[in-house]
Amino acid sequence: MTAAKTLKDQAAIVTGAASGLGRAVAGRLARDGVRVALWDRDLDGARRAAEEVGGGACAVEADVTRTDSVRAAMAATREALGTPAILVNSAGILGPSAGIADYPEAEWQRVLEVNLNGTFRCCQAAVPGMVAAGYGRIVNIASIAGKDGNPFVAAYVASKAGVIGLTKSMGKELAKTGVLVNAISPSASETAIFGPLSDARRGRLLANVPMGRMVLPDEVAELVLWLASPACSFSTGVTFDISGGRATY
Ligand SMILES: NC(=O)c1ccc[n+]([C@@H]2O[C@H](COP(=O)([O-])OP(=O)(O)OC[C@H]3O[C@@H](n4cnc5c(N)ncnc54)[C@H](O)[C@@H]3O)[C@@H](O)[C@H]2O)c1
Repeated sequence: MTAAKTLKDQAAIVTGAASGLGRAVAGRLARDGVRVALWDRDLDGARRAAEEVGGGACAVEADVTRTDSVRAAMAATREALGTPAILVNSAGILGPSAGIADYPEAEWQRVLEVNLNGTFRCCQAAVPGMVAAGYGRIVNIASIAGKDGNPFVAAYVASKAGVIGLTKSMGKELAKTGVLVNAISPSASETAIFGPLSDARRGRLLANVPMGRMVLPDEVAELVLWLASPACSFSTGVTFDISGGRATY
């Protein structure tokens, strides 16, 4: 393993960075001097976010459901910033709320395709460069729903449980390479993923959160910052909760 680096001047990819948690993570990394490639299928949104983030950030169009798009985005990122030392997988969708008997199969496939298969694709594109450099940090945004389970969003829960499993497997596989792979499991945060939230739905989302509030994107970004940094040096394959005391194992 090469000597630990500081975050400053490292190159990072944040997927789903046009909005919500990914956008907050991109901003936090940039504040510590990281040059961030903001990947999103929404290129205009990624451009707006990159402008706000500053610090040499760039926007890259990437649809994580398409291998050709991920490969092209990786090539563009390398060209612009060099080989990324950090990958944060935040692109994700919730999918519909429906009972299992009525859950549309096409929606099931779509949610798995973005949340789980998309995370796999981006990891696959980033890992060889990190292993060759003898250093890397991957942070997957899972969800407390992937540990605890939420009713009526089976595809989302299954996709996030899959991300937790992918993280465990990659963490062990890469443990001696200098590349650490961890995940986080936030409870609900008021981002675009839910669309407009009724009071009733907000109440249901908060019912299991002992602190009784939504997690702020900036709070999530602080945890990701640590996991993406050399200060995180002896943890891999782990999913860290940021869930206001919602429980966990
Ligand atoms: N908000 C929450 O309550 C919460 C809680 C736990 C986990 N998460 C997870 O955090 C991550 C970010 O969610 P968010 O709350 O910021 O949502 P968001 O909707 O604000 O942002 C998601 C981003 O992902 C992008 N995206 C969607 N599909 C994509 C694709 N195929 N390719 C590339 N980009 C794509 C969207 O364009 C958007 O910019 C997701 O993985 C989500 O499951 C969110």
